[in-house]
Amino acid sequence: MINRYSDMTLKDKLIKEKLPKHIAIIMDGNGRWAKQKGGTRIFGHKNGVKAVKDTVEAVAELQIPFLTLYAFSTENWRRPKTEVNALMSLLVSSLSDETETLIKNNIRLLAIGNIKSLPVKVQDELNEVIEITKNNNGLTLILALSYSARWEIIEAVKNISKDVKNGVMNIEEIDSEKFSSYLTTSDIPNPELLIRTSGEYRISNFLLWQIAYTELYFTNKLWPDIRREDIYNALIDYQKRERRFGKISEQLK
Ligand code: FPP
Repeated sequence: MINRYSDMTLKDKLIKEKLPKHIAIIMDGNGRWAKQKGGTRIFGHKNGVKAVKDTVEAVAELQIPFLTLYAFSTENWRRPKTEVNALMSLLVSSLSDETETLIKNNIRLLAIGNIKSLPVKVQDELNEVIEITKNNNGLTLILALSYSARWEIIEAVKNISKDVKNGVMNIEEIDSEKFSSYLTTSDIPNPELLIRTSGEYRISNFLLWQIAYTELYFTNKLWPDIRREDIYNALIDYQKRERRFGKISEQLK
């Protein structure tokens, strides 16, 4: 009851007109959470799924149009095989368990990253849910899988080079907007808020191009402990900030 009340007051503090259109999250700390509880790393990831559900629900409810979750980085392939396999299985089972909820809540699923490098089972499940939810027009939930920003930027450079070589584009046409259109996020606005959990103050190769003007929010909480109130707190903090984009305060008035 008490929780519900405090939950309501936090949500009530949010200014609807000042909500971001896109939140990106580096979900970190599953392993440390599990260690504290005396469980395996996989136990931590399983509990991380609960935090994912609560976060997606809260963001969808606020009618924020885009949410990107860093679920598996290019670098995560270096983890022990058992952990990688368990994470892949967890992805498949979570996607299949949550398909109905995504449909019911009008959520569209997208994935960014080197999707072809994922196990076929994961690709199939992803493609199925992406296809089923493609006409939903509520929240767009973007999973970054086998993703890293440097990989994405290099892919863009290769594709731009091909287009220049084939005469599809002139070098002079390359500007910020054109470059963005070659990234995996071409149809997605840049995030206004990036959240990282677990007390690490790093970007870890996530959306490097897209976060040029993004507000950063760090919390010491480990990902499996994250609940909707934590997202509200991040948003309250974000709404107190002045975003100047290189201008001075007075110019914004
Ligand atoms: C970071 O914690 C977490 C990950 C690398 C995986 C994130 C995956 C989930 C939350 C579950 C599946 C996701 C979806 C979208 C259903 P860590 O393992 O790096 O923790 P540590 O830094 O404490 O070791």
